[in-house]
Amino acid sequence: MLKFYKWVAVLLMTAGAALAQDFGDTPYVQTPMNVVERMLQIAKVNSRDYVIDLGSGDGRMVLTAAKKYGARGFGVDLDRRLVELANRTAAKTGVADRAAFYERDLYETDFSAATVMTIYLLPEVNQMVRPKLLATLKPGTRVVTHDYDMGEWQPDEQIVIDAPDKPVGRDKKSKIFFWLIPANAAGKWRWELPQTGRNAVFELSVAQNFQMLTANATLDGRALAVANPRLAGEQISFELRDGVDGTRYEFTGRIVAHNLSGGVKVVGATAQRQLEWEAARTELGTPAHALLKKPTMQELQEKMQP
Ligand SMILES: C[S@@+](CC[C@H](N)C(=O)[O-])C[C@H]1O[C@@H](n2cnc3c(N)ncnc32)[C@H](O)[C@@H]1O
Repeated sequence: MLKFYKWVAVLLMTAGAALAQDFGDTPYVQTPMNVVERMLQIAKVNSRDYVIDLGSGDGRMVLTAAKKYGARGFGVDLDRRLVELANRTAAKTGVADRAAFYERDLYETDFSAATVMTIYLLPEVNQMVRPKLLATLKPGTRVVTHDYDMGEWQPDEQIVIDAPDKPVGRDKKSKIFFWLIPANAAGKWRWELPQTGRNAVFELSVAQNFQMLTANATLDGRALAVANPRLAGEQISFELRDGVDGTRYEFTGRIVAHNLSGGVKVVGATAQRQLEWEAARTELGTPAHALLKKPTMQELQEKMQP
């Protein structure tokens, strides 16, 4: 709560930077335009994208995505004057057919159509929306936030950039955080690969928390070492190492529902081969993050007190 009031105080001192003061959970502070552009670049926004901004202010995220990259999308804000301003700007700049703004509570917003989410909200609010982002967005959807992270959900990428026009803070710098919505990789996977005249059976048990994976594997019931398991949206990769004959298997693939397909490089002592690979999920797992109870605002604020 302390942080909230400090921010409001700074905001009030920055006369002229804000058009409105209709707070909801997060006061109106503009993302500087150079930061908006960098956020959209990090998210690799393009004309196939549907961009949704939660707490859209004057609409700059979605308007820039529409004007500069030809994307479509919408923004929601509780402040009617900001929503009207954003819609007027969309009309004036010729993107009203691709960018719309609604007076709506972000907690009541269906954002499942997004391929990119942009967010500049207080850290507590990020954490309040986190379960819904993870539960409703398609795997591979890009999420980019300004200044505040998502608690224990580690970003896939983060940078700090100069923000000379920033209306808050003394150091005139902005943080940008980026995530891909992870597919559900948890559970047991099974597949076969041809090995000198027969098929060998592989099994992989995967535990997942956000995009972090831990895994165990067997080949015909015998344990293999698993190295570097990674999940980026729907893309999974990992290595299996056979301690008996020294073979290394480098798997990459894409998860679609309960199927996994891709390629594997098999590196033996004397030869190397590339094979196609297809696995089926034989037991569905639940990622640990999906079991977390949704935090209340009070719990989050207590946790964030210094
Ligand atoms: C920090 S500003 C960000 C504005 C804009 N996205 C930007 O980056 O320039 C946060 C915005 O969220 C809006 N807001 C706060 N709580 C909200 C809620 N529950 N639902 C919708 N909008 C909300 C505020 O009115 C404010 O315009």
